[in-house]
Amino acid sequence: MEKPEVLGRNPKVNLYLEAAGMVSGLLLVAFLWVHAFLVATVIPGAATFDGMARFLEKYYLSYAGIGLGLLIGLVHVAGVARRIPASYREQRAVWRVAGRMRHTDTYIWAFQVVTGLVILVAAAIHIWVVLADWPLQAAKSALRVQTDYLAFYLILLLVAEYHAAAGIYRQLVKWARFRRRSLAFAVGTATAFILSVNLAALWALFHLGAVR
Ligand code: HEM
Repeated sequence: MEKPEVLGRNPKVNLYLEAAGMVSGLLLVAFLWVHAFLVATVIPGAATFDGMARFLEKYYLSYAGIGLGLLIGLVHVAGVARRIPASYREQRAVWRVAGRMRHTDTYIWAFQVVTGLVILVAAAIHIWVVLADWPLQAAKSALRVQTDYLAFYLILLLVAEYHAAAGIYRQLVKWARFRRRSLAFAVGTATAFILSVNLAALWALFHLGAVR
């Protein structure tokens, strides 16, 4: 039987790339959780957010976090890139098979590829915008959310959390012996929780006084 094009010739390389994709994916989910709680320090007030930002700055933690996050992001893209159907012919084949089988998990995977590409562009814009207005300050963040960026952040949030949830679900289905229903419930609950933390942070930024 002919080997699928997405797999390389060397099984060891495939294994390393698979492991790199999985571990970096888990670390990126951890990054999103830490990021959510850091931004959520604005909920008690601007002073808490600014104190957190000064603390991270003082110990170079913001630079370490950004550098590490970007590195892990690169490893993730390198690890999963071979599985993305690159040509139109491959993409049509995926939709045809998913449609014919009515296979939910194949749809989840296909949508994960699409959301991954959206994150790549949107996260790059977001990081650029934040870094261009460094250092972090609640008033600056609130100004962005209150002027141009609310819709952008809502889209990035939904896309990033969907991508993270689908990734965790698919890895656990693949490597662990959980019942799919229980797994979907656990991942769904965790996602709903972190979405509410992020939405509360956005709400607080949107309502932070005296910045408009
Ligand atoms: C790596 C460096 C990053 C830094 C320094 C950073 C910093 C921030 C800051 C300060 C805000 C508050 C709003 C603003 O200032 O404009 C924010 C909001 C947000 N960021 Fe990031 N971010 C980073 C990466 C990411 C990544 C990789 C994602 C998603 C893939 C992301 C998703 C979001 C979302 C959805 C919001 C809206 C508010 C919320 O959901 O809490 N960020 N970020």
